This record gives sequence, structure tokens and C-alpha cells, in this order.
Amino acid sequence: MWLTNLPRLALLMVLNCFAAVAYGTERQAEPKEDERNASYWMDQAQQQLDVRLLRSRKAGGGDIRVARNIIMLMGDGLSITTLTAARILKGQLAGYSGEESQLAVEQFPYSGLSKTYCTDSQTADSACAATACLTGIKTNYGSIGQSAQGVKVESILNWAQDAGKATGIVTTTRLTDASPAAAYAHVQRRSQELDIARQLIEDAPGRHLNVILGGGLGKFASERSDGRDLLKQWQTANPDGCFATTLLELHDCSATNGSLLGVFSDSHMAYHLAASREQPRLRDMTEAAIQRLEQAPQGYFVFIEGGRIDHGHHETRAGYALDEMLELDEAIEMAVRLTNPNETLIVVTADHSHTLTMAGYANRGTSILGLDLSQRDLDGIPYSTLNYAIGKWQSLNKAGKRESPGPHLSKTSFTPSYILGKGVHSGEDVAVFALGPQSHLFSGVMEQNLLPHLMAYAACLGQGVTICEPPP
Ligand SMILES: *[C@@H]1O[C@H](CO)[C@@H](O)[C@H](O)[C@H]1NC(C)=O
Ligand SMILES: *[C@@H]1O[C@H](CO)[C@@H](O)[C@H](O)[C@H]1NC(C)=O
Ligand SMILES: *[C@@H]1O[C@H](CO)[C@@H](O)[C@H](O)[C@H]1NC(C)=O
Ligand SMILES: [Zn+2]
Repeated sequence: MWLTNLPRLALLMVLNCFAAVAYGTERQAEPKEDERNASYWMDQAQQQLDVRLLRSRKAGGGDIRVARNIIMLMGDGLSITTLTAARILKGQLAGYSGEESQLAVEQFPYSGLSKTYCTDSQTADSACAATACLTGIKTNYGSIGQSAQGVKVESILNWAQDAGKATGIVTTTRLTDASPAAAYAHVQRRSQELDIARQLIEDAPGRHLNVILGGGLGKFASERSDGRDLLKQWQTANPDGCFATTLLELHDCSATNGSLLGVFSDSHMAYHLAASREQPRLRDMTEAAIQRLEQAPQGYFVFIEGGRIDHGHHETRAGYALDEMLELDEAIEMAVRLTNPNETLIVVTADHSHTLTMAGYANRGTSILGLDLSQRDLDGIPYSTLNYAIGKWQSLNKAGKRESPGPHLSKTSFTPSYILGKGVHSGEDVAVFALGPQSHLFSGVMEQNLLPHLMAYAACLGQGVTICEPPP
């Protein structure tokens, strides 16, 4: 096998060299071993930043504003189809046709695409993707806050704290779930959530956070077997701190000015569609976080995640995913309303995509969670406006033939899929939207790990080039 393949391999290498010369492109010839090293990604991102700075200087530059504050909002699993479908749902819920409706990010002046692959995986999970978004390096699927070699890396929250800024994290998932964990934890596997919780309360940058809001109470106390009560530890370390478990208690905390810890559920917070009124909405948590952090004399960095868009998609219930996206949309609106775009950089993106599609030529105004009334498959059976490529329900009758999903479709039902399987992520690029100081840098196609380097440039954080210390 090896011997017979050898000449072919050599030929391929020759052809590749030829291709690189022929097209004048610099082929990524680095062996994967280099990508396992954090400094590979830090250097690569700084080079991309240089290219962008040169490009904007050639175009006349112009934006000399420094970001005092940064708000990074992430939709977990927020694919571009999810954006389009949620926009239509937003319009339809308001009584319109829907397609002409607008999401909050449509007011943002700059947007681009982010490449989400990880060091060992074409399609990302939240662990490696959020690590790229928050630490500036790519790593292995499932790893958090460390390189593929297992070397720990700092996150932009460390950089912000070093610069004297206040910091916060907000999520609708467990606080120890992969995306928020990438802001403060270092683990090889995302399933090490008990250790992630410990790192949040005991280690830097977690123990210096001014705002922590989300779900997952169990990981801090009841599910532990190491004798720690991390909530008590937090209260001891933060005597002025305010601890909330409901929306009312969160409101009561606004009369205090110490650190804020809100944990609103044992595991993930309930989907907005299924939540009680006691549970704060993402926009409530966003408001509480910004009001607390804006008191900081040197500004702040806050990471805010709509984490359950992803869960709706994994369950292949598009209605849940879209509703969670509209919750994020209201949080984005809140962030824009409470801040001044001359001093606050707002970046909205996703960690990875999902397999939701809008296939076919549905008429204008077709119910986005309903049946496409104008079309049928080759057997004459109608199909839904939205479908998943891979999922748990195919709308088959007893004979195994597809039947109309129409009678089953609702805002909480399963959405049909083509291939029977678990709802999965997908590997295509995701969107990035930016508003505020240096937002022009967030355009074109970006490696995902470039994002924190761009934010650090705009707010003068970290070890790389910043607008406060531009390259010579
Ligand atoms: C990672 O890369 C840097 C810079 O090239 C090098 O100095 C360092 O030794 C590498 N680390 C490992 C563990 O290979
Ligand atoms: C915070 O609250 C305490 C007690 O109400 C007060 O003494 C202190 O001045 C406040 N600090 C700030 C920075 O507002
Ligand atoms: C932002 O700065 C510009 C230029 O100084 C000014 O005209 C504008 O009013 C400012 N916007 C806000 C919301 O402060
Ligand atoms: Zn997922």
C-alpha cells in the first residue's frame, strides 16, 4: 500500500508545487504539526491584521476612534439561513409578509464571513470555535482555552482585565458550556464541566469577572463530589456581590454596585418559548450586564451568547432555533440602544453553522415554519419551507414513503430532514457584523481566530499591534 502509493504521492507534490507557481498563490504548505502550536495562529492572525491595516491606510484610513468598550454577541449555531429565516419569522409575527423585515444587525455598517474549521476538523464544535473567537487561536475539536498541543492560552478577557477593564459573560446555556467556557477556562475536553466551574470561581480571569449571568447551578454545588460549594466561595470572595436566581432578584441587584452573579437554572436556561416569567430573557441579562459594566472607569469587555439557537437546531425544531435567534436579536437591539457607537465596538457572530436550508421557490409570504404551498416533490407530495440536511424526522408513512409534513408542522414541531440522523453542525462560513470604532476591519473573509485580534486592536488590548501603538 505504502510502496505503491509513494510514486503517486511524489507526483502530487510536484503537481502542487507547479500549481503554486502557476497561479502565483502561496499554498498553505505547513504541516499540521505547526497548527498545533498556539504561536502559529497568533502570528497568522497578526499578519492578517497587518494586511487589513495596510488596505485601510491605502483607502485613506479615517477611523481614529479607540473602542472603550467591546460587546461580543454570539449566536451559537447561528447560520446564515437562520438569520434569513428568523428575519422572515420576525416580520410574519408582526403581521407582514416577512422577507422585507429587518434584524438588528442589518443596521450594522460592516459585515464579513468567518472560516470556522478547527485544527483537526472541517466542521467546528462550540469548544474550538469559541476558543478561536475569544483567544485568537484555533485548536482541536472539543478543546477549550488551549492549543492542540495542550498549551494554555489567555483569552481576550485576560487582556481586558490587564488593561484595567471590567469584564463579564452572559449566556442562556450552562455557564460551564463550551462557548462561555472559552472565555475563562482551559480543558482538553469540553465535558470536564465540573473543572470548568471550579476554574470560573477560583482562577483568573474567571474570579475577576464583574458580571456572570447564565444557567447551570448544578455544576457549582449539587453535582460536585469534591466538597466544594462554589457559590459560597464566590460570595465569600465578593462580599459586596449580588447573587440572583430570578428576574426579580436580578432587578433588585441593580441597587448594588459590587459584582453580579446570576444563575437562573440547574442546567441550561429554559427555551424562551417554554420559560416561566421568573426567568430573565437574554435582553434582560444584556441590560443588567451593560448597566453594571458601564460604571467601570476604564471601560469593559462583555461576551453575550444566545446559546440555545444551537439546541433548537440539534433537536431539528426550527421554531425553537428561530425564536432563540429573535431573543438574541432583542439583546443586540438592547446593546445598541444602551451604548454610544463612538466608544463601543459591537461584534455579532456565530461559532459555527447548522444544516437548516430554505430549499425551493416558496412564494412571497409563505409561512416560514409551515408548508411550501406552491411546490411538490416528484411523487406529488408537498414539502416544508424549511428543512434540515440531517435530522431525526423525515415525515415518512408506514411504507417508508414521504408523506406531507403539513398536518404536523407548528412552531414547536420537528422540522423534516433529508438524511435520518442526529441534528449536526455544518462547516460553511458564518457571518460577522460590526458597529463602532474600527468596525471597518471586520469585513471580507476572516479566519475565525482573527476576531479577538481585531477587537484587541480596536481597544488597545493584548500583546499584538493596537491602534494605540500602531505599526511603524
Ligand atoms: C511553538 O512555536 C514557537 C515559535 O515558532 C516555538 O518557539 C516553540 O518552541 C513552539 N512550541 C512547541 C511546543 O513546539
Ligand atoms: C458602591 O456602594 C457603596 C455602598 O452603597 C458606596 O459606599 C460606594 O460609594 C459605591 N461605589 C461606587 C463606585 O459607586
Ligand atoms: C460621534 O462622533 C461624531 C464626530 O465627533 C459626532 O458628530 C457624533 O454626534 C457622535 N455620536 C454620538 C452618538 O455621540
Ligand atoms: Zn451544537
